[in-house]
This record gives sequence, C-alpha cells and structure tokens, in this order.
Amino acid sequence: MNDLVGLIAATQPAEPWDFVADRLAALADAGARAVASGTIGGVRTAPSLGLCTAQEAEAISELLRAQLRERLRKSDQEEWLRRRKWLGFYEGWHAPHLSCARGTLELLPWRSGKPTTALVEHLASGALDGSVSAIELGCGTGENLVCLAGAARAVTGVDIAPVAVVAAQEAITRSRVQNARVLEADLLAPPDELQGAFDFAFDCQTYQCLRQVSIVAAGAAVAGVLRLGGTLLLLTGNADEPEERGPVRLTRRELEDGLVPAGLELVSCDPFFFDETEAYRVQAEERGLARPPRGWRSLWVRVR
Ligand SMILES: C[S@@+](CC[C@H](N)C(=O)[O-])C[C@H]1O[C@@H](n2cnc3c(N)ncnc32)[C@H](O)[C@@H]1O
Repeated sequence: MNDLVGLIAATQPAEPWDFVADRLAALADAGARAVASGTIGGVRTAPSLGLCTAQEAEAISELLRAQLRERLRKSDQEEWLRRRKWLGFYEGWHAPHLSCARGTLELLPWRSGKPTTALVEHLASGALDGSVSAIELGCGTGENLVCLAGAARAVTGVDIAPVAVVAAQEAITRSRVQNARVLEADLLAPPDELQGAFDFAFDCQTYQCLRQVSIVAAGAAVAGVLRLGGTLLLLTGNADEPEERGPVRLTRRELEDGLVPAGLELVSCDPFFFDETEAYRVQAEERGLARPPRGWRSLWVRVR
C-alpha cells in the first residue's frame, strides 16, 4: 500500500469535503499516501479535491493522518456547520476554494483584507450618529470593526473561531482603536450581555451560514442583539447569482421568511456585488466570470 493513490468522487458539491472525510480517513488508515478526487455526473467538486501534485498529495496525506479522524467526523453534521467548518477555514485544514488543501488567513474565500464597501458606504451616508453601540456578527479578521469604531461610541465583534478572534484583536490593536472589543462566542447560543444591547448590527455573510444550522435560531440571533428600533445592515448571497462560489444564495423571500418572524421589518433590499477577494478573482478567471458574486444588501429595523 506504499504508493496507493485513492480516488474519491464527491457527489455533494456544497459540502464535498465533509462528504468524503470519512472515506479519506479510511484510505489513510489503509496506508494510502496520496488522495485525489474526481467528479461525478459532470459536477465539479471543490478545487482542493482536484487531482493533486505529489507535493499536495503528501500534504493531504499528512493532514489526513493528523487531523481528519479527530476533526471531520461525519457523525454530527450540525456541529460541522455550526462550528468545526469555521475552525477549519481559519486553521487552514478546510479550504474547499483552494487548489491545495491548506489555507491561510490571507486566502479565506470571503476576505478582502479591507472594510466591506457596503458598510463604508452606509457609514458615509451618515446613518450612524456616533453615539451608537454597534456589533458585527461573525466579525472574522476584524477589518470592519476598525471601520465601525470610527462611527460608533462602542463596537463589539463576535466570532466563533478562536483564530478569527485573535486576528480581529490584532487588527484592533494595530489600528490603536480604543472603543472596539472582540468576543469569542456562538451567536446561536449568545451570552446574555449581547441580548438587546445594540443600536446597530452589521452582518456580512454570517446570517446566511447561521441559517444553515437553524433558520429560527439564526433569525433570533441576529434580531436578538438589537434593542427595539435598532437597525441591521445585512449582506448575504443572492439566488440570482448563477454560480455556486461561496456566499449562500438566498431569495428575497427566504430573507423575509427568516427575519420577519424574528421581529425585524425590512426597510430596503437591493442587489449588489461582494468586494473582490483573491478566491473570487481566481474563480472568475477559471470560469470566465466578470465580477465577484452577487448578493443582497438589506436594511432591517427591530420592531418587536
Ligand atoms: C463567511 S465568514 C464572514 C466573515 C466576516 N463577516 C467578513 O465578511 O469578513 C462568516 C463568519 O461567521 C463566523 N461564524 C459562523 N458561525 C458562527 C456562530 N455560530 N457564532 C459566531 N460566529 C460564527 C465564522 O467564524 C466566520 O468568521
């Protein structure tokens, strides 16, 4: 079995890595030193499962033995969607958007490295009066927190991934901002101190992920941090985007069905394009696409 190369075909393009994880682990147990992937029915699987070079195969094999059995057990899909997937993105062992198995913070698929343009525009319009308390849900590496801190009295970032929290704290420290903090917490089981505590919430691509775990809990999570009358600027994927390339694609109806019962009223909802990232750029190049993925930019107010 020294030079065995296993061939895996994934049938679920949305979560191929998860799907094949236990099969990969079984191959590694059997002594496989390299693992490659295929496609089924013409469906392209994640690039990280594409046929690999010897070096990549070695890296994958190493990862398999060291981490897969521990971290990617298929037994608990909810736990995967809720937490482990995010640890994987930030720790570099889940990188379905890369042609090599190992990712880095710089290559997180959604990360532009700059404050999100839609947030910058919202703040530039004078929407916040400087006395507000603001929160970013799923703050990632913290670029938006620093930007928000310039327009709010106090800013809190929340993320479930410890590596993200450290990176966000570093971004805050680097920028010498005094009125921002970051908490490691699960928004689907939020600490009491966050409940009803904020005048403004910003969410870029987090609600769309929370609702994959539970639509009701996701609605409660994003609405629950706002005081009555507080506003939410929400950026999500858009079902009018023809390509599967990261942001979860939702219809406007799905947004309303998820958030209105949670006590939010829709103020506006417009299509927009996410900011360019390295992953989106590579996808666009490979697939001949003109722009980053399409999303919805929506504004909500808590009425109940
Ligand atoms: C697609 S990323 C977007 C990150 C950031 N908003 C940005 O645009 O750069 C989603 C973020 O939400 C975080 N996240 C996912 N589920 C979460 C949960 N249940 N509680 C807190 N954070 C969560 C992830 O760790 C990740 O940083």
